[in-house]
Amino acid sequence: LVVTEGQRDTGRDRRNVPERRVEQVWNHNKISYGGDYNPEQWPEEVWQEDMRLFKLAGIDTVTLNVFSWASIQPSEDTYDFDRLDKIIKLVTDNDMKICLATSTGAHPAWMATRYPEILRTDFQGRKHKFGGRHNSCPNSPVYRKYAARLAGKLSEHYKNQTNIIGWHISNEFGGECYCEKCEQAFREWLKKRYKTLEELNRAWNTAFWGHTFYDWNEIVLPNELSEHFNMMGRDRTQFQSITIDYKRFNSESMMDCYRLEYDAIKQNTPDIPVTTNLMGFYQPLDYRKWAKYMDFASWDNYPSPTDSPARMAMNHDLIRGLKSGKSFCLMEQTPSVTNWQPYNKLKRPGVMRLMSYQAVAHGADTVMFFQMRRSIGACEKYHGAVIDHAGHENTRVFREVSELGAELKCLQDATLDARTQAKVAIVFDWENWWGIDYSSGPSLLINYHQEALNYYEALFKQNIPCDIIGTEEDLSKYDLVIAPILYMIKGDYDEKLRQFVKNGGNFITTYFSGYVDDSDLVYGAYPGKLRDILGIWVEESDALPEEESNCFDLYGKEHTARILCDLVRPEGAEVIACYKEDFYADTPLLTRNAFGEGQAYYVGCSSDEAFYTDFLVQICKELKIEATMQPLENVEVTRRVNEKGSYLFILNHNEGHVNITMEKSGRDLIHNVEYKKGQVVELKGRDVIIYKEDNETN
Ligand code: GLA
Ligand code: ZN
Repeated sequence: LVVTEGQRDTGRDRRNVPERRVEQVWNHNKISYGGDYNPEQWPEEVWQEDMRLFKLAGIDTVTLNVFSWASIQPSEDTYDFDRLDKIIKLVTDNDMKICLATSTGAHPAWMATRYPEILRTDFQGRKHKFGGRHNSCPNSPVYRKYAARLAGKLSEHYKNQTNIIGWHISNEFGGECYCEKCEQAFREWLKKRYKTLEELNRAWNTAFWGHTFYDWNEIVLPNELSEHFNMMGRDRTQFQSITIDYKRFNSESMMDCYRLEYDAIKQNTPDIPVTTNLMGFYQPLDYRKWAKYMDFASWDNYPSPTDSPARMAMNHDLIRGLKSGKSFCLMEQTPSVTNWQPYNKLKRPGVMRLMSYQAVAHGADTVMFFQMRRSIGACEKYHGAVIDHAGHENTRVFREVSELGAELKCLQDATLDARTQAKVAIVFDWENWWGIDYSSGPSLLINYHQEALNYYEALFKQNIPCDIIGTEEDLSKYDLVIAPILYMIKGDYDEKLRQFVKNGGNFITTYFSGYVDDSDLVYGAYPGKLRDILGIWVEESDALPEEESNCFDLYGKEHTARILCDLVRPEGAEVIACYKEDFYADTPLLTRNAFGEGQAYYVGCSSDEAFYTDFLVQICKELKIEATMQPLENVEVTRRVNEKGSYLFILNHNEGHVNITMEKSGRDLIHNVEYKKGQVVELKGRDVIIYKEDNETN
């Protein structure tokens, strides 16, 4: 079948789709359950068996066409939808909903041969050949043209297919390219950002090491051939400002590819929501910028077996925060094992279910897997799947998937679109991440994600809900805003914080904050533009090796001062704690400044778990920020609220059972029982309660 380029039609009139469609994760009436399905890897006899097994497992949604570019476009002028038509008919006849991918995450081999410009050049400056995936240069006009055209063709071809509930552009965008096309595009990007070379030279402080540029063409990409080098296994740069701009540029280049496909799809199916699967705390791409162009956020959850429940929860909260609290889609997780970790440990019985509900507890409206059936060849053949190589339903994994499938059916639409109501927010910003990661000094141990996690985990263990927000987010809905290592104050973000505190907000920031502007240029005495809000300045900072620490007392307990110890000079702030050792013993490290109607805290070092807990518990107590439920060791509790009700999620991360005292009466939607207020309920190891709370006013 050869399809020639046809007139595009918006398709709006032909589709009878509810208005609210793009507002939701997608149009569904229960938690969507399914995942990546690649029937193109199998003979058709197997497809029918897949359908039987999917029904058994309660699967209702499949993500199709993730890596099929070569089959849909076998040559430059040919588009062949025959097989995809068959697959779509098959799943449609079996009442399944479709998340349709555009396949542009891996280009066809013929395209690489005919147009070598689509191939990436790596960090070492090596031009790649065909192979792998996520391998196209984001600034190649040829790649962009064919990727957008494919998205257009697909959406045009399937615009009347009413069970397509979402579009999935490409797959896990990521990586970098350092080819000549990218270098040229970088120069153009810089011209737009800085207008003149004088301004660029100022912003980059190129007088340092005689880097002054007299012609835009003198600017080269920062990689191993130019500004970068390796220090103790970490990628370092000699010109932070150039590297940070390259990071912005690379993220935007890939985002532009995403947007080209997005626009092509919207031409044909304006009412079907569009997303791409993100990867949580993925440093190379500024997801906050991307999220603006996503109808809903979605992501792939592949924790390592040693990740704490808090670390996993924080990923979900990050993704929820990308769309200001709107539900998101858990697009992928493995039902059992991955293949790409050094040791691919099995998810223990009950863990897949627990992790699925953890996603839902933090805002997911879908539970999806990679993959539905295990491939027989290439690198993912030992990756877990709903249907194993054994090919039948008599496996532990299949049983667990089916049991969860049955439960999700019972939950119906109860928790869809429900929101988390947090009074505390943690600011997490990509440009800060780049600034901190690439800073030459003061310490390789400064870890932005980890410091944010330190604060997050303390709240998590107290069952205090928290949003992870970007610098664009409105702060007025929060009582407490924590910005760990707010190194870069972009634009007038200080003014936003100033107003927040003036109006009665409570603000916490830490060591290595307020130092630089958007171009990584130092403002002056630290913490720069935050100085008046915090009522302090920092004279010196002592970067301690991993095995060394100082210490301080807080509320009668001693804590360690680690990583970076600021010598804080109060300018109006009240001193809460001082160092006990070394030449700066008795020097303040923890302060509180009354500013307008609010309070601004400065924490001049990294510390231990007990510190974060004690410190935040005290502040939350003062602010009357309540826990969702009294904390119990390793039991996570969240609440989501929608028009239909208020849902409490109680997740037992322990292997053994725990006794929970119900703080409200209501109905357990999973075990299908009523509980009275004050009733003690035994919750088995790794078990979950989703509890619809009775309205207290009754
Ligand atoms: C990612 C990809 C999938 C698959 C899985 C394996 O999430 O999107 O295509 O490779 O990893 O874990
Ligand atoms: Zn390139």
